Amino acid sequence: MPKPVQVRFNINQPAIVNTQNHFAEDVNRGLSAGHKTVPPKYFYDALGSQLFEAICLLPEYYPTRAETEIFTQHAAEIIGEAPSPVTVVELGSGSSIKTRQLIDAILNRQGSLHYQPIDISPTILEQTAEKLLGIYPTLMITAMAMDYTHGLGSLQRQKSEHVLALFLGSNIGNYNPEESREILCETRNALRPGDALLLGADLKKPAEILEAAYDDALGVTAAFNLNLLRRINEELQADFEIRNFRHNAIWNESLGRVEMHLVSRIEQKVRIEALDLTIAFREGESIHTENSYKFDLDQISVMANDSGFRQHRTWLDSEKRFSCNLWIAV
Ligand code: AVI
Repeated sequence: MPKPVQVRFNINQPAIVNTQNHFAEDVNRGLSAGHKTVPPKYFYDALGSQLFEAICLLPEYYPTRAETEIFTQHAAEIIGEAPSPVTVVELGSGSSIKTRQLIDAILNRQGSLHYQPIDISPTILEQTAEKLLGIYPTLMITAMAMDYTHGLGSLQRQKSEHVLALFLGSNIGNYNPEESREILCETRNALRPGDALLLGADLKKPAEILEAAYDDALGVTAAFNLNLLRRINEELQADFEIRNFRHNAIWNESLGRVEMHLVSRIEQKVRIEALDLTIAFREGESIHTENSYKFDLDQISVMANDSGFRQHRTWLDSEKRFSCNLWIAV
């Protein structure tokens, strides 16, 4: 009898993925409102995802480098403090580049690993899985191309395993406080007492540093933001004149967040054919496209307690710009 071939990669995705309708509905709702908005999840089409990868290489955008430094210095220690053995679920895994340092440390400890990345993009999940499986012969991947809620609901674990959930890159910062609490509580509900969550959270710092990180000299973040208009033009047959908008990033001290806006340079009208909608812009009126909340360490502990975890340990980079927090489910 030939030995059964172990399948090391599975991808689960909802039977019907009707992202186009959600995009149309969200753009319709967001641009028809008094305070115009488009949700930041729509940045990440094929071009937007590449632009985000480029942002992570910019000298001004410190979060990726700071978090990588923490993992380079402390991955073994972080994993040493987490329960064992574990299966790993990652919320918003993207290219999983930083995750490799954690996977290395876990494999040193337990020899094999079931990794369960959740990301909205099946393409990025497949590309990343191919790379990871090539690097790690004892890795098994169950990828989930869905939102966090559905992904967490499909989480698998062996009886003997704990779950280590990863929520890296300060992705938590792109949600407002109520949404963050909801995501963290949903994560907690998918875990059992003693399981863990590793949360990457960017820290508050002077406005000049924050504003430069979101408005770099090369204009890559501006392109990332303006790409939303190109996407609406292409997918919803709109006629945004992209040059008539400019990127703006400001630190909102009272709300503790960097805001990104697309500001209309002139008074103008834009037609979105697929929505049968014409939108009027005043000169200086903006589309609010993203919030990136920044935290202090006390706030992070409060978030842990409010969502059913206890803050176990925090690691910072050498310049104290970014935090990685190991929370234990209580
Ligand atoms: C993905 N997220 C954590 C990034 C951030 O820093 O808020 C997105 C981003 N927006 C502009 N630059 C990077």
